[in-house]
Amino acid sequence: MTMLSVEGLRAGYGKIEVLHDVSLAVEQGQIVTLIGANGAGKTTLLKTVSGLIRPSAGTIAFEGNSIVRRPAHKIMRLGMSHVPEGRAILKRMTVLDNLRMGAYARRDRDREIEVDIGAAFARFPVLAERRAQMAATLSGGEQQMLAIARALVARPRLLLLDEPSLGLAPKFVTRIFETLRELKREGKTILLVEQNARKALQIADKAYVMERGRIVLSGSGESLLNDDTVQRTYLGRHAATKTTAPPAGDASAAISR
Ligand SMILES: Nc1ncnc2c1ncn2[C@@H]1O[C@H](COP(=O)(O)OP(=O)(O)OP(=O)(O)O)[C@@H](O)[C@H]1O
Ligand SMILES: [Mg+2]
Repeated sequence: MTMLSVEGLRAGYGKIEVLHDVSLAVEQGQIVTLIGANGAGKTTLLKTVSGLIRPSAGTIAFEGNSIVRRPAHKIMRLGMSHVPEGRAILKRMTVLDNLRMGAYARRDRDREIEVDIGAAFARFPVLAERRAQMAATLSGGEQQMLAIARALVARPRLLLLDEPSLGLAPKFVTRIFETLRELKREGKTILLVEQNARKALQIADKAYVMERGRIVLSGSGESLLNDDTVQRTYLGRHAATKTTAPPAGDASAAISR
C-alpha cells in the first residue's frame, strides 16, 4: 500500500515558490530518504506534507486520502508525526511532560498512554533516568531521542524526520540510525531527511535527491550509493564505498577504493 503519495506539489513562502512540481511516494513499511544540499527545499517539503505550509498546487494523499487542505493537528490525528528540524521539544518542561504532550492528540485512556510512555523509556533508558529533569538540561543527542520518543507516543504510522542526526556526536548518530532500523522492523514507515547522506542511503529502501526545489534523481538506496553524481556531490570523493565490484580492468578504480 502507498502510505504517502505526493504529486505535482508546489509550495513556498509568500510569493516565493520553493517546491516546483515535486512528486514522490512512500510505500508502507519503507524507509524513504530525501537528500539534498542546504536550501534545496527538504524542510519545506516535510512541512507541506504535515500541513504546516499550504501548497499552491498538487496533491498529497496519506493512506489514499487527500490531506491537502487539512490543518496540521488533524493530519497528526490521522497518524502522521513530524519531528522537525531542531527538535522543537518543550525545553522548560520535564522529559515526562514532553512525552505526555506527544499523546495529547490521542483520545484513549490514560493507562494506555502510560504504557506507551513506558515503551519509550524502555527504548531510551536515558530518558527514564532523566524523566523528572527539564528537557533543556538534556544533551543534544538526548533531546533528539526525546523528540523521536515524543513523536512515537502519538502512535504514528508515518514518521517524518527532519535531520535527526544533525550536530550530534558519533555515538548518538549511531544510536539514532539504530532506532530507525528498529522502527522499520516494528512496521513503522519513515520519510527521512538527512545531511548524513551515506548513512541515510544505507538504510533507505528508496531515496530521492532534491536540488533547488525539484527531485532530480531517485532510486533504491543502494543504487544511489553507487551513483557517480551522488558520490561526487553528496558522499565526498574519497569517502565513496562501492557496494558492487568495479568493472574488470579498472585498476585505478580498484586502487582508489
Ligand atoms: N520561513 C521562510 N520564509 C522564507 N523563505 C524560507 C523560509 N524557510 C525557508 N525558506 C527558503 O526556502 C528555501 C528552502 O529552504 P528549506 O529550509 O526547505 O531547505 P532545506 O533543504 O531543508 O535546507 P537545509 O539542508 O539547510 O535544512 C531556501 O531558499 C530558504 O531560504
Ligand atoms: Mg532543512
